[in-house]
Amino acid sequence: MTSDLHSPGWWKNAVVYQVYPRSFQDSDGDGVGDLPGITSRLDHLALLGVDVLWLSPVYRSPMDDNGYDISDYQDVDPLFGTLADLDALIAGCHDRGIRLVMDLVVNHTSDEHPWFVESRDPASAKRDWYWWRPGRPDAPGGAPNNWESAFGGPAWHHDERSDAWYLHVFSPKQPDLNWENPEVRDAVYAMMRWWVARGVDGFRMDVINLVSKDVTLPDGPLIWPDRDLAPPLGVLNGPRLQEFLAEMNREVGLSEQHLLTVGEMPGSTVALAREVTDPARRELDMVFTFEHVALDEVPGTDKWTLQDVPLPVLKANLASWQVGLAEVGWNSLYWDNHDQPRAVSRFGDDSPEHRVASAKTLATVLHLHRGTPYVYQGEELGMTNAGFTRIEQYRDLESLNHATAAVGRGVPAEEVLRVLAVKSRDNARTPMLWDASEHGGFTTGTPWLPANDNRDVVNAQAAVADPDSVFHHYRRLVDLRHHDRVVVDGRFEAVLPEHPQVWAFTRTLGSQVLLVLANCSSEPAHVDPAAVPDLSGSEVLLATHAAPYELTLRPWESRVHRL
Ligand code: NOJ
Repeated sequence: MTSDLHSPGWWKNAVVYQVYPRSFQDSDGDGVGDLPGITSRLDHLALLGVDVLWLSPVYRSPMDDNGYDISDYQDVDPLFGTLADLDALIAGCHDRGIRLVMDLVVNHTSDEHPWFVESRDPASAKRDWYWWRPGRPDAPGGAPNNWESAFGGPAWHHDERSDAWYLHVFSPKQPDLNWENPEVRDAVYAMMRWWVARGVDGFRMDVINLVSKDVTLPDGPLIWPDRDLAPPLGVLNGPRLQEFLAEMNREVGLSEQHLLTVGEMPGSTVALAREVTDPARRELDMVFTFEHVALDEVPGTDKWTLQDVPLPVLKANLASWQVGLAEVGWNSLYWDNHDQPRAVSRFGDDSPEHRVASAKTLATVLHLHRGTPYVYQGEELGMTNAGFTRIEQYRDLESLNHATAAVGRGVPAEEVLRVLAVKSRDNARTPMLWDASEHGGFTTGTPWLPANDNRDVVNAQAAVADPDSVFHHYRRLVDLRHHDRVVVDGRFEAVLPEHPQVWAFTRTLGSQVLLVLANCSSEPAHVDPAAVPDLSGSEVLLATHAAPYELTLRPWESRVHRL
């Protein structure tokens, strides 16, 4: 069932595939992926059956944060190609019935964007387009307040030219735009309309809940014993967030034209997500929550302080979103993206023995929840973390800044490397593995980040040729969603919520009931027959293992039963 682009809510039975352009396919041998490379690989997406391609930023950029620092919103960076290449990609997608969603990064620009360059002059008409403030002698370093940037260090940068400071929640090369100024919002909406006219089908909105801030810029609570900087809580979910989202929707005609909108919203709650995704409010279609990907952080610390996540905790988190958005609103579903470690290494078991089954089981669990699933490039192959052991192998500024700061605070270098190997964003950014050749078929040059060592086993060519591969399992999941309304609309109900190994739930639509049973461990797991619905006479729609289908599940065995 290919949904009609002009029908409201078409994205409910869609599956989105994220491409990180730098790492997908290089066409010119410079070691960096590009637009012609992506276009040349569209048949891979078509074979997988996905409906939407979300393209991470390809705009003109100094590449401080790999393109999330934009210096021209209406042009393509030469590293990735030209506007004509992007038009060709859009056309190539549309020819295959795939929609293209652009990344929209409008909480901040690059410091090389002409708007910011102009705003450095205190007399300029653009001064108020950014958060310029005088220093405060009692704040750390004399900055306007004590906020720490998401990438470490103060969230303020001092500009000699006017002896004033500007806010950058991310790197100093990513100054925050001041959305309080209506001219900023108008400029953003005009730019979005320009992209819609060019043929794009929606927007993934980068940290969109940061656009409304507490304008008093209050000091944050000091929660870290070893630093005088604080998390910048005042930038999250500000008082005008929903006003701005509704205005953007109206001014660009997002809902009216049935464009897909998904807002990246760190620090959002179920309650906020329900409001923002209530179709009657015309704000966003869905949001990316961060709750489930933060469960492995010790509360009150940061992403680098790890703790184990018991399965019941992870299940309960996803269930709370399922229940919270059951009547109103809509979920997005994801394990992976360009900021997260690889799912199979993080939530599964990436050993040669269990990699395939655990990647399939994680996929089954996620795709059988209610919401729109997102597949990050390579996830459909069960790609693993990078396995880097030396700091020189990393490129990501967040990882490098953290390493410098942690070593500076006395954390042993081996410990820093151990944590980076688990959590660094570069785990997701190694080249897409197309075949078993030297750089996985990604480039004929030297890749900007080395290809994973296991490319002889994990690669698209081998996966497509093997009917039992992770790839074909994902393909079947996409197909199931397209053909079975219960996967899209069925009511979610948790089963066995306390089971330490098994993730089980039902989806119900009218008289149709699906039961998902998934052993999320590398040991056999027993399910008490009295605790689950009767399986006799049920049809198995999808399974990781061949029959017999017993109630003692094999390691990482999962099944979808139609009762
Ligand atoms: C979220 C993006 O996903 C991430 O890659 C980026 O570094 C920050 N926003 C800043 O744009």
